[in-house]
Amino acid sequence: MIRGMIQPVDGQHIRAVADACMMPTYRRQPLVLVRGQGTRVWDDQGRSYLDLVAGIAVASVGHCHPRVVQAIQQQAATLMQVSNLFYTVPQTRLARLLTQLSGLEQVFFCNSGAEANEAAIKLARKATPPGRFEIISALHSFHGRTLASLAATGQVKYHAGFEPLPPGFRHVPFNDLAALEAAVTPQTAAILLEPVQGEGGVHPAALEYLQGVRRLCDERGILLILDEVQTGLGRTGSMFAFQQYGILPDMVTLAKALGGGTAIGALLARRPVAQAFQPGTHASTFGGNPLAAAAALATLEVLVDEDLPGRAAEAGRYFREALAKLAARQPAIREIRGLGLLLAVELAPWPQATQAEAGHGHAPSPVPAESLAPAVVDAARCRGLLINALGPDTLRLVPPLTITPQEIDEAVAILDQALAEVTHRACLPRTV
Ligand SMILES: Cc1ncc(COP(=O)(O)O)c(C=O)c1O
Repeated sequence: MIRGMIQPVDGQHIRAVADACMMPTYRRQPLVLVRGQGTRVWDDQGRSYLDLVAGIAVASVGHCHPRVVQAIQQQAATLMQVSNLFYTVPQTRLARLLTQLSGLEQVFFCNSGAEANEAAIKLARKATPPGRFEIISALHSFHGRTLASLAATGQVKYHAGFEPLPPGFRHVPFNDLAALEAAVTPQTAAILLEPVQGEGGVHPAALEYLQGVRRLCDERGILLILDEVQTGLGRTGSMFAFQQYGILPDMVTLAKALGGGTAIGALLARRPVAQAFQPGTHASTFGGNPLAAAAALATLEVLVDEDLPGRAAEAGRYFREALAKLAARQPAIREIRGLGLLLAVELAPWPQATQAEAGHGHAPSPVPAESLAPAVVDAARCRGLLINALGPDTLRLVPPLTITPQEIDEAVAILDQALAEVTHRACLPRTV
């Protein structure tokens, strides 16, 4: 046996080795996942889970879609990587399909969402006149963890400890056109926005807002970059979220769902903007490699052939209705929001929720409010449902776009039980 290989799968051992050998950058759920199929994943004990995390909005065509698996297997046996010093077939076909689907004429391939935004920021500076370098983005946005994409991210909690960040970034309140207008200066190169703020709590942009931003950009010679890393490729009910706003951005960034589970990112841009990049100005060794490109091409073909954007719109409506019914009898739920199958359940602050739920005179538990959403995540997992918390009060639901009404019913039933358990537990007088 090769030293370092761990077999057979022993979940406890894997967790112990992982915690010892890997940097502690993640707060992982205590689960070792070993297999996935469609909307479900399985742990090392053979237990199955309905997966509404889906690799954080990655497994849009479902886990291990047979066409994606076949494309990867075939490409792996043919050619995996030759660098971008040569032309390759899967990358070329993928680029053409992305341009046809988006209406943006040229593509740069990379390996992640942060890299795609990094490329967009560089292109914005290169494609606008000298002296324009500033990028305006929104408070509560999320654009990645590399230094520039982090500087664009409008959440100080992610900045802490990494200062000084690259200069040239400003943040304004989201969905506030006047604030954006006021922040524009002669140095502004681009405005960078998510059509729906994902990590920031699942907040969709208002129609008039994005349309107003497009107008402002046109009037002031500013580039509009939409970060569709999370919203893109069917998730919100259309292939690209911007298509629901009746606008065409100058650039769009993609990653997450693009590779069907493999790592690939892309920056799409209008041709006149894209032409500011020339040989040598930007590059990536692995960007758009044949293996990831073949997987992405198969993924896009599945999205189109199975009309997954349309199914996401329909399933999103069904899910919201089911959640609204749940909210009507479950006082812990304060709001349901989102677009398509990018959904959030906002929970009421802990004491109110527990008092309302209890209705029998117990004093609210002193359990800190921060633990409400994470407690529901844990209770749901114990019942076979994977979701994740965006902060103390918000649950995010981003299932594969292939999710069926029966699976949605199952998810809502588990959520109901998990909420009941957590709110009930919180109402019990504490003995310690
Ligand atoms: C909108 C958005 N942009 C960028 C990123 C960063 O993507 P990655 O983790 O692939 O670098 C994310 C990740 O969650 C995201 O949601």
